Amino acid sequence: MKVDGKHTRTIWIEADGKTVGTIDQTMLPHRYATIHLSTVEDAARAIRTMQVRGAPLIGAAAAYGMALAARQDASDAALERAYAALLATRPTAVNLKWALDEMMASLRNRTRDQRVAAAYQRAQEVADEDVEINAAIGRHGLKLIEEIAEEKSGAPVNVLTHCNAGWLATVDWGTATSAIYQAHDKGIPVHVWVDETRPRNQGAALTAWELGQHGVAHTVIPDNTGGHLMQHGDVDIAIVGTDRVTAQGDVANKIGTYLKALAAKDNNVPFYVALPSPTIDFTVVDGVKEIPIEQRSADEVTTMTGRTADGRIESVRIVPDGSNVANYGFDVTPARLVTGLITERGVIAAAREALAETFPERVE
Ligand code: MRU
Repeated sequence: MKVDGKHTRTIWIEADGKTVGTIDQTMLPHRYATIHLSTVEDAARAIRTMQVRGAPLIGAAAAYGMALAARQDASDAALERAYAALLATRPTAVNLKWALDEMMASLRNRTRDQRVAAAYQRAQEVADEDVEINAAIGRHGLKLIEEIAEEKSGAPVNVLTHCNAGWLATVDWGTATSAIYQAHDKGIPVHVWVDETRPRNQGAALTAWELGQHGVAHTVIPDNTGGHLMQHGDVDIAIVGTDRVTAQGDVANKIGTYLKALAAKDNNVPFYVALPSPTIDFTVVDGVKEIPIEQRSADEVTTMTGRTADGRIESVRIVPDGSNVANYGFDVTPARLVTGLITERGVIAAAREALAETFPERVE
């Protein structure tokens, strides 16, 4: 997608052919800054501190992290240490484990001498595949937006989204946003309600920024606004991303997604989840019971960071000293609240049979 009108991906191999470049998402929307990852430790730190985040991008960054690890030391023991270090960075998005397993499978039966080139090649493929998958997700999601646009005879289609399942969360296109960008590029009027997504504000900071860079009309709303908008007929469709989809179609996504799905159900608003197939985890069934939910630092809740009137970036405390704080990063929306899953192979039911029939090669 575009940054200052220039096509950009979120992760790339630098001109030296070895180190990895990516966007420091902790600086957005106030500053567009890129960082270089030279070692597997750099890659692990970037994922842990959420300089790179979003399930598919975490997977791609981990894949490149394994390539950096192989360059440092391509022995079995070193690669296993790198795998473990990267896997420990964030628990909920299953794309991380998927990408690490892909990397290990492509390296295991090679000699040490072959491993570095093979690792860079497979990491590049993981990134390229993500771009193709997300473009396909967008083509399928576009049909849903087109149908609504036809019914509304030219009035903008109002899409509600949560967190950032945009191109910043992937290598390109985004998942939830891919259909939005494709509709916009086709001249279909779209307007996006962007949940701010406390506590880290991925909606207000990242989704709003990337939609703005691409010229898509959008309005940032406090997280609690969606239900009200749905009651008044101001949301035509909700499209969110996901960090893990279970065998029966339960969906983990950024905290607050479940409440939006409940409000959508009560108001007959279609609630779609866009996902690339590496986000499906056929080893788990009941998402509420089985998906590990990341708990993050209390600082993310007790403080807010922003730009002061004179241009400085500052954090301020918003919670009384001494109050207890809980910071659950994700929640699980049961399949029964999901209208459909927008995958690279089409829009399917959030149900065991549909998932298994559409992705038989992934069933475990
Ligand atoms: O904690 P984050 O910012 O990594 O969480 C991101 C989300 O919850 C996204 O909605 C999800 O990863 C899908 S990204 C295409």
